[in-house]
Amino acid sequence: MRVVLLSALCYCAAVFAQSSVVDSYVAKESPIAKAGLLANIGPSGAKSAGAKAGVVIASPSTTNPNYLYTWVRDSSLVFKAIIDLYARGEDSSLRGTIDNFVAAETTLQQVSNPSGSVSTGGLGEPKFNIDLTAFTGSWGRPQRDGPALRATAFIAYAQNLIANNNASWVTNHIWPALKLDLDYVQNNWNQTGFDLWEEVSSRSFFTTAAQHRALREGAALASKIGQTSVVSGYTIQADNALCFLQSYWNPTKGYITSNTGGGRSGIDANSALASIHTFDASAGCDAATFQPCSDKALSSLKVYVDSFRPIYAINNGIAANAAVATGRYPEDVYFNGNPWYLTTAAVAEQLYDALIVWKQQGSLTITATSLAFFKQFDSSIVAGTYASSTSQFTNLTTAIRNFADGFLAIHAKYTPLNGGLAEQFDKSSGTALSAVDLTWSYAAILTAFDARKGVVPPSWGAKGLTVPSVCQPNAGASVSVTFKVQATTQLGENIFLTGSLDVLQGWSPDNAIALSSANYPTWSVSVTLPANTNFEYKYIRKFNGAITWESDPNNSNTTPASGTYTINDSWR
Ligand SMILES: *[C@@H]1O[C@H](CO)[C@@H](O)[C@H](O)[C@H]1NC(C)=O
Ligand SMILES: *[C@@H]1O[C@H](CO)[C@@H](O)[C@H](O)[C@H]1NC(C)=O
Ligand SMILES: *[C@@H]1O[C@H](CO)[C@@H](O)[C@H](O)[C@H]1NC(C)=O
Ligand SMILES: *[C@@H]1O[C@H](CO)[C@@H](O)[C@H](O)[C@H]1NC(C)=O
Ligand SMILES: *[C@@H]1O[C@H](CO)[C@@H](O)[C@H](O)[C@H]1NC(C)=O
Repeated sequence: MRVVLLSALCYCAAVFAQSSVVDSYVAKESPIAKAGLLANIGPSGAKSAGAKAGVVIASPSTTNPNYLYTWVRDSSLVFKAIIDLYARGEDSSLRGTIDNFVAAETTLQQVSNPSGSVSTGGLGEPKFNIDLTAFTGSWGRPQRDGPALRATAFIAYAQNLIANNNASWVTNHIWPALKLDLDYVQNNWNQTGFDLWEEVSSRSFFTTAAQHRALREGAALASKIGQTSVVSGYTIQADNALCFLQSYWNPTKGYITSNTGGGRSGIDANSALASIHTFDASAGCDAATFQPCSDKALSSLKVYVDSFRPIYAINNGIAANAAVATGRYPEDVYFNGNPWYLTTAAVAEQLYDALIVWKQQGSLTITATSLAFFKQFDSSIVAGTYASSTSQFTNLTTAIRNFADGFLAIHAKYTPLNGGLAEQFDKSSGTALSAVDLTWSYAAILTAFDARKGVVPPSWGAKGLTVPSVCQPNAGASVSVTFKVQATTQLGENIFLTGSLDVLQGWSPDNAIALSSANYPTWSVSVTLPANTNFEYKYIRKFNGAITWESDPNNSNTTPASGTYTINDSWR
């Protein structure tokens, strides 16, 4: 009895100490993070010389790694945080910066780039030079979350303008660019692309979740400003994307398979980042949109967090139910695979978001799916609904808040004294490493702090959605493309085709499409490709099990809007 009492006292004292450590961290780091974020935005940011107005640099780091570029994803997430802060009335001086962002992104949309022009897939281009010109080096492209995230940032601003009697500005100056992004999402959500870490071309949970949100709130905004012709198209594809979103859930292993390709487990910060990006307190703990407090998102969070316990030395000796440093995914080898500031902050934010909803609804529900998550805090807890008047509710929510604070305490522990936030911290020494002053790291800690304070972001329409019982793909407009290539071959040698689109087998040599030699030495095959789409491809030779690729560079081409199309090549 004495021992129990003593440990309870120590535990309480430790919790109290931790919560005051986090309180101090919030007080100290908030202004540093906000200043750090604004320093990385052109034209006058202290660390972003050369960036055009409204351009967010990913980081001022120019070597190992060189992040002095602007990414559509990072910029949009950063500006979503800035716009929400502005809309809450916390800093009216941000208005001009937000207008600059809208203008810069509107310009970028029109910049032809290796993914295409504005009408042939160029909106899927992930990164640009900070003077608003195209980046033409080789890269993992396209990345289809960018247009969706940018649409969500634009919509947040548009809703604020409408609420302040400035709907005409929305119609005339925001809607034309916003519609381009929403149309892109509507037409392309069902195509593969590179994930948010720019490494795997497959299907990514974060991307689908962001696309679903954008289409859903895009349809609502369009109807509000009288742009009714797009509403049903956006809504139909939002339903289709929501249906597809369910397929990422792995019911036997209890986590969201964030990436479907790349030979990984799919355990990834991707899912926690998606859950906080699509948080809508009005949707309660609905699992259809994987809300932060949904049983699926909580189960997935536990699997994700636990995957880092054995692999980072700085997590050694930490109790199995206490917070640890987390990274992108357990198989990560970038910079040798380390914890990231923004992913560790995301775990805390998901938990604070969950606490907001449980408090708001006055109860929490434990299902068979989320039981393992809750058992971390009370090994005798059973599935059921616990009202806020019960001691189970009080104990669990207290423990979960403490757990969430633990992630911020770790964040604080490995943040250098000057408060600067890099991309990563070393898994063994805890020293900051990789890109310094990562803009997304600053935005991520600010939104986690807000969630801790109980800030509820605006609703985007996640409440009461019904998942269609049968999933429909978005076939979209298509074109029959005939590939013809002149190639002399030896007996038994055959020509195949593979490339950047799903239907071109996503660069897989094994699944490459066979061409016919009926008109030898012209080899040919007809394939149905999406219309208005820029793509890359190569022919390969297969002979006795050996594969020979065409020499570099990749071939590229663009499908027309309709009809048929023939491509005439010679083997290179
Ligand atoms: C509407 O917002 C734009 C962008 O900030 C601003 O330039 C314009 O003056 C505003 N108009 C009104 C009527 O408030
Ligand atoms: C909640 O915590 C208190 C104090 O530690 C404990 O006495 C009580 O039994 C707990 N209630 C439940 C339902 O676990
Ligand atoms: C397209 O949607 C269908 C139906 O949900 C799905 O089976 C397919 O995997 C999706 N493809 C991509 C690349 O999203
Ligand atoms: C061709 O495309 C593949 C897949 O995106 C890429 O890995 C490769 O670097 C490209 N080749 C060149 C020369 O750009
Ligand atoms: C390929 O050749 C055919 C017939 O010679 C021609 O009709 C077609 O326009 C050519 N394709 C391209 C892209 O030039």
